Amino acid sequence: MALPNNNPTKTAAWQKLTNHFNDINNITIKDLYKDENRVSDFTLEFNDLCVDFSKNRITKETIDLLVELAKEVGLKEAIECQFNGEVINVTEGRAVMHTALRSTSDEPVLVDGKNIKPQIQTALRKIKSFSNKVISGKWKGYTGKSITDVVNIGIGGSDLGPDMIVESLKFYKNQLNTHFVSNVDGDHVSEIIKNLNPETTLFVIVSKTFTTQETISNAETIKNWFLKSATIFDIPKHFVAVSTNLEAVDSFGIDKNNVFPMWNWVGGRFSLWSAVGLSISLSVGFDNYRALLDGAEEMDIHFRNEEFENNIPVILALISIWYNNFYLAETEAVLPYSQYLKKLPDYLQQAIMESNGKGVDRNGDKIDYQTGTIVWGSTGTNMQHAFMQLVHQGTKLIPADFIGYKESLYGLKDHHKKLMANYYGQMEALAFGKTKEEVHLELQFSGDEDKINTLLPFKVFEGNRPSNAILFDKLTPKSLGKLVALYEHKIYTQGILWNIYSYDQFGVELGKELAKKLLSKQ
Ligand code: F6P
Repeated sequence: MALPNNNPTKTAAWQKLTNHFNDINNITIKDLYKDENRVSDFTLEFNDLCVDFSKNRITKETIDLLVELAKEVGLKEAIECQFNGEVINVTEGRAVMHTALRSTSDEPVLVDGKNIKPQIQTALRKIKSFSNKVISGKWKGYTGKSITDVVNIGIGGSDLGPDMIVESLKFYKNQLNTHFVSNVDGDHVSEIIKNLNPETTLFVIVSKTFTTQETISNAETIKNWFLKSATIFDIPKHFVAVSTNLEAVDSFGIDKNNVFPMWNWVGGRFSLWSAVGLSISLSVGFDNYRALLDGAEEMDIHFRNEEFENNIPVILALISIWYNNFYLAETEAVLPYSQYLKKLPDYLQQAIMESNGKGVDRNGDKIDYQTGTIVWGSTGTNMQHAFMQLVHQGTKLIPADFIGYKESLYGLKDHHKKLMANYYGQMEALAFGKTKEEVHLELQFSGDEDKINTLLPFKVFEGNRPSNAILFDKLTPKSLGKLVALYEHKIYTQGILWNIYSYDQFGVELGKELAKKLLSKQ
């Protein structure tokens, strides 16, 4: 089955949405909240996850029409194509199987006629046994000492995913110190190695292609640094690789037993579920790593089977399209109310913008409607004291995802109450604002009517600014897996609706080529 191919703007649903937009454009979230069932009608629950999307400029009809659009462009078939291992990354001739990496079902998944499940299981066993040896101290360095530090050398998908997860699961971390080197800026690698002991450090070189300039340069620099104290015969105890390019790995000098597989049917930015996640497993242990995969699998099953009306990734994708294509919103914010998730916006920038930043449709024709959202963000409450002024009172419409947890991990209840009061307070302020009358009442005590009138326009909050409340019970490896998979499926849904290919990234190549050319002239 081939991916459906439909210009969304030529569908009947799009026409209806355009008319509907003109009809409800002036309705405010405040008006919509007059319906006492608003919250329950616009909330979806799925195990430990609750998504309240009631503070959006949408009605039931908006959702119905967006769902109609999803059906008209063939989203259901597209989801099946992905899960069944069809070649949906058409421009690179590849299947896209990150969902198979976390699947626990026995159902075979065929890529090029071959069941890929056994190789996934073998790789997982290898990750488990290697992680156990290193964490328990059984794996010894070249002077017989156990490993204390792990350095992940990679960039893009070979860095952002593992780095974000390791940071997010800090609470679950073991004694190993984990570091990430990515930038070709030599100061980055220098800062990392300056405090490391070569006798007790393990280097994980992660590169699907094993040709990426940044990664290979950092790996070579580190190898040279290592060889100042050790010999080439010590390399197997300190260097492992995750790659598809076995030849290049071999010529780098890595023992073939220390190579973890990667596959062409896993895209770089969707690869943390493969051996690219080795530093995650080393950092929090294999069981926690497996729990992360299990959470993602739960979301996969939900995405694949749930009706669109109740399907969390689909609904969030559709709402985002509503703002992007009808309100012409330029950006979206991701605002986690957990310090652990401080790297999530960076990670999502690659996942979302490298996937859906495309201007040519699946026919190869230039697109005349808006695609890929620009995503940015930071953690609450810090960002309230940074950029939220613009989100509240600026001239731009910025839909925002507020990610929160009912419980904190260390249990400081007083802090958590304050954190969550801010979480809800911000969404309320964005949605409902503050009217002239309210501001007037507030300033009345001064008795200076002139001053009140002068200040009034500056203190009014228009409100009517949309947000989604994405609330989990607790930050666990499993709930984190669910959250990341939710965004992955949102990406694919949007790519299908915009009629683009989400899984290639030719746009990053030209800059790389030019840098190479410039370098060769020097
Ligand atoms: O930035 C382009 C890109 O190809 C990403 O898609 C990928 O995650 C990254 O480079 C790293 O690639 P590799 O794992 O092959 O080193």
